[in-house]
Amino acid sequence: MHNYLEDSKVMLIAHRGFSTDFPENTRAAFETALESNVDMLEIDIHRTKDNYLVVIHDHTINRTSNGKGKVKDYTFNSLMQFDYGVVKHIKFKGQHLMTLEQVLVLIKHYPQKLLIEIKQPHFYPGIEQQLIHILEKHDIPDEKVLIQSFDQKCIRNLHKMKVGFKLGVLISKKKYWYRMPNFDKIAIYADYVNPHYSLVNHKFITAAHSFDLSVMPYTVNEPNVAKKLIMLGVDGLISDNPTKLT
Ligand code: G3P
Ligand code: CA
Repeated sequence: MHNYLEDSKVMLIAHRGFSTDFPENTRAAFETALESNVDMLEIDIHRTKDNYLVVIHDHTINRTSNGKGKVKDYTFNSLMQFDYGVVKHIKFKGQHLMTLEQVLVLIKHYPQKLLIEIKQPHFYPGIEQQLIHILEKHDIPDEKVLIQSFDQKCIRNLHKMKVGFKLGVLISKKKYWYRMPNFDKIAIYADYVNPHYSLVNHKFITAAHSFDLSVMPYTVNEPNVAKKLIMLGVDGLISDNPTKLT
């Protein structure tokens, strides 16, 4: 059978791990993704009260754990008292919150790249420097990691630090539904422009590519949407179920 995904050579990115079938941003979701044929793993980071970078999407633990409260108000040890699997399904009971460093140790054993999203950096002054320090401490090669954020200032800060990692700007539907991003300005400091998939059309792709910006839309979970985006010429697909897109 004709496989448009394989033919296209588009990058497949597991969004928060295999988050359709596993609790998002947990070891279970990451290991399953890393054992598959995806090209990249996407994670989100926040910071605890005692300065650990931890892998979680929201700035609170309310939705994804059996606890309540803000990540920044807890120490890492106190966040470990909660369960991060059971909300998805009882069979995932025992999944813990992971630190960024634990994910770096895990991904070293795999060929995939890591796409790190810095969440709400305004809550965490200096998080850019801290992230780079951790990546350097773990000897992570430049080509292994990409860093992205909705916060363009944060990505500009990383660019000013002259880091070797590829950088990306996330483009939200809420902010850009009526206008195109300033690709010319973004291209000065970023390599990727990753939009909500609904914003992608021929004009978007042509403009981004004309400034050498790669385009990896999120969150693409339907095969018909994936096919349309591939035909438009996207460079990657960020998906909760990347192996089910054909
Ligand atoms: O990687 C892109 C995507 O993760 C951005 O949105 O809210 O799922 O982190 P969100
Ligand atoms: Ca994300």
